[in-house]
Amino acid sequence: MATVLISGGTGMVGKFVTQLLLQQGYHVIVLTRKIPAVTTPGIKYALWNVATQTIDATAVQQADYIIHLAGEGVADKRWTEKRKKEIIESRTQSSALLIKTLQQTPHHVKAFISAAAQGWYGADPQPPTTFGGFTEAMPAATDFLGNTCKQWEDSVAAVTTLGIRLVKLRIGIVLSNTGGALAAFTKPLGTGVAAILSSGQQIISWITIDDVSRMFLYAIENTAMNGAYNAAAPHPVSNKVLTQTLAQQLRGRFYMPIHVPAWVLKLVVGEMSIEVLKSVTMSVKKIQDAGFKFAYPTIEAALNKLVPRA
Ligand SMILES: NC(=O)c1ccc[n+]([C@@H]2O[C@H](COP(=O)([O-])OP(=O)(O)OC[C@H]3O[C@@H](n4cnc5c(N)ncnc54)[C@H](OP(=O)(O)O)[C@@H]3O)[C@@H](O)[C@H]2O)c1
Repeated sequence: MATVLISGGTGMVGKFVTQLLLQQGYHVIVLTRKIPAVTTPGIKYALWNVATQTIDATAVQQADYIIHLAGEGVADKRWTEKRKKEIIESRTQSSALLIKTLQQTPHHVKAFISAAAQGWYGADPQPPTTFGGFTEAMPAATDFLGNTCKQWEDSVAAVTTLGIRLVKLRIGIVLSNTGGALAAFTKPLGTGVAAILSSGQQIISWITIDDVSRMFLYAIENTAMNGAYNAAAPHPVSNKVLTQTLAQQLRGRFYMPIHVPAWVLKLVVGEMSIEVLKSVTMSVKKIQDAGFKFAYPTIEAALNKLVPRA
């Protein structure tokens, strides 16, 4: 069976993708900065150091496919200038190291599947009633995330000059019961508060961890896939609908909806608040036309799967 080398395989998405790969019979090598104290049976680990541009090249030599997920968490800390640099360079320099290794080492890598993000697009230019969603050919936004996503995608582009098929998945907000955005949305509900952000009208392009992980596998196996694909569920919802659906699922009728004003968010998370307040609607026609079938197309189906019912 084929071998998949996965950078960032220890992260939220990476762990799920890795399990799926193992279930499908793939050999998996996780490329990491530090071998975990508790390793997963069936997985090999290989070390790299992006800062010093060193890597265990034998891992690249063994790979049939590379999945590239590594990068500093975008929402983990406040966006200081130092943090912004780390967010960008952990992606661009890790891509550079992988590409340099592919150039210098004999290998048989057939496809390189890279994470990318909806941040490419910026905010919806029209209200949800008239906007059909961003399509993959649209240019990158000029804000911080737009810039980051542009540099990130540019950093993997050279893969195609090596004759390797390149797929970039522009991922929306991943909903998982192991962390990430859903944990943040769920936290206030512990005290019965459904925290709607600002007006709550802003659209969230979400996707379940299950569907996004299956999409990485689909991109490996479907050799017709090439270039960028939006990776979000076909039915995005407003922040208010997501919050209320989550509240009903977790607490039945026993919750109190509260609007958190934009200025409070700004105070708490700084510049990053722009990201949770803006509408982002992505068209997923391209991935659907490629034949991908969503297991969780609606927010009700997604939360039913991920969250225990009250
Ligand atoms: N989760 C989402 O909602 C979402 C949405 C859009 C796009 N994405 C993108 O999808 C990818 C995976 O997301 P995720 O949520 O699974 O992220 P995550 O849980 O933060 O995992 C990212 C992994 O990247 C590695 N990493 C972090 N900083 C690094 C650095 N400076 N140098 C090298 N490796 C580093 C870490 O692996 P080691 O510690 O093992 O080295 C970490 O496990 C990310 O690139 C993310 O931006 C995620």
